Amino acid sequence: MSFDQHDVAVTVNGRRYERRVEARMLLSDFIRHELLLAGTHVGCEHGVCGACTILVDGEAIRSCLMLAVQANGREVMTVEGLAPDPETLHPLQAAMKECHGLQCGYCTPGILMTMKAFLDEYPSPGEAEIREALSGNLCRCTGYQHIVDAMLLAAKPAEGPA
Ligand code: FES
Ligand code: FES
Repeated sequence: MSFDQHDVAVTVNGRRYERRVEARMLLSDFIRHELLLAGTHVGCEHGVCGACTILVDGEAIRSCLMLAVQANGREVMTVEGLAPDPETLHPLQAAMKECHGLQCGYCTPGILMTMKAFLDEYPSPGEAEIREALSGNLCRCTGYQHIVDAMLLAAKPAEGPA
């Protein structure tokens, strides 16, 4: 069986990639299998768990619910693009480390990307707002408290001097 092939050009973490893909290829599979950026995790593949969350043009989306062809010409950021350099963690990553916000880490990339988009828009949220923003990301390990603590820590600098 053959499928329609399409040329796509996507900028991911500041680097442009060009590939020919099947029309039906999911963006999550494109990122993992074509670009070999395996930090984006796939859990449910039904838009439920949030593990596959990435940014497309700055907006958090579930890459299992988008086709690779729909990302043509757009700017994507995956978890690999968060840290400014290989030696330095992004503040969200540093806060997750500091607050023990991960155990197995499977949910972590999706949570980081969800919270990146959220904190970009709402830099100083309260705990209730953070819990609401996190409600679409399922974690089977942590019970969420440490993740919430990490997000409060990461949000703190945006609140300005005490
Ligand atoms: S893998 Fe996309 S939401 Fe679960
Ligand atoms: S740390 Fe294991 S699923 Fe969240």
